[in-house]
Amino acid sequence: MKIKNSPYNLRETLGYFKRNFLGPVAKNRGLVRYCRQCCQLNPGIQPQYKIAFIGDVMDMKGRRLRTGTRIKQFIASCDYLVGNFEATITNARGAYLAQRHSPQILNALAELFPSDKTFLGLANNHSGDFGLEIWSESKMQIEERGFSTFGTSNATFVEIDNAIRIVGATQWSNQPVDYIRKIEKAHEFHQPGLFNILYPHWGYEMELYPRPETIERGRQFSLLFDAIVGHHSHIPQPVTEISLSKSGANVKQLVAYSLGDFCIHEKLKHYHFGQVIIMSIGPDSKGKLKTGSLEWRFTRCRRVSDDLWETDITSDYPYPTA
Ligand SMILES: [Fe+2]
Repeated sequence: MKIKNSPYNLRETLGYFKRNFLGPVAKNRGLVRYCRQCCQLNPGIQPQYKIAFIGDVMDMKGRRLRTGTRIKQFIASCDYLVGNFEATITNARGAYLAQRHSPQILNALAELFPSDKTFLGLANNHSGDFGLEIWSESKMQIEERGFSTFGTSNATFVEIDNAIRIVGATQWSNQPVDYIRKIEKAHEFHQPGLFNILYPHWGYEMELYPRPETIERGRQFSLLFDAIVGHHSHIPQPVTEISLSKSGANVKQLVAYSLGDFCIHEKLKHYHFGQVIIMSIGPDSKGKLKTGSLEWRFTRCRRVSDDLWETDITSDYPYPTA
């Protein structure tokens, strides 16, 4: 039975609180492995698109956020940016564990990358925190600044040039809502003929490695979709490649289980880490779009002053990556 204001049953809710305070656990280590930070998934791919992905854009609790020069330089050559917008822009009092943004977060995101080339996913467990009316006002503010949103019941995906489709869907919601796309329906939005990317909100908080059921779900989704970039764990999980045989040919695909937190105001330092990924996509010798190169880095959101925090690429990630 789901616990009020939690996406989970009692056992998982207690596990969440324990890991929240004590820090991440390395359970299930070794089931999947990180790929190198710079690698080529499929040979002979002529790069046509470069898409950057970041993790959870979380509640800054009224503090300003800025982004550092290293992350800006890292994604500067990309055509598009995708992030998970996991809070509602509002001053309203929400339920316990509700996540709230100030409008300043949109300035920080626009400073990082052009808003008209940024796609913000809303399929996550916090989009229901304040109900439909306040969420709709927040969504309108996001879109008025030029960002595109997806992962909703009315707009589950975004498309690039009728060539790439990015589908947002969530396994979890803290509140019972019907305006966010649930993961059970994600497969219905795969479009044959396009390069389909699934951007799922799934798994469990503060676990450094995905559970076997998430790995199996990722494998099943990989048979349909061309890449998976996930989020929700608030700590980075492995960026992996999976080898498949599709239509009689071997193909390597990206499965990034969770990109952690892009930004968050939080005293518990284990919440400060994330990943930024760049995937290039282009046609193979037969004209089929595939992933070419893949590059990724760890990021860290750190306090600069009482009212200013900064997210940038870091070389100080403290947890195992084997
Ligand atoms: Fe989440």
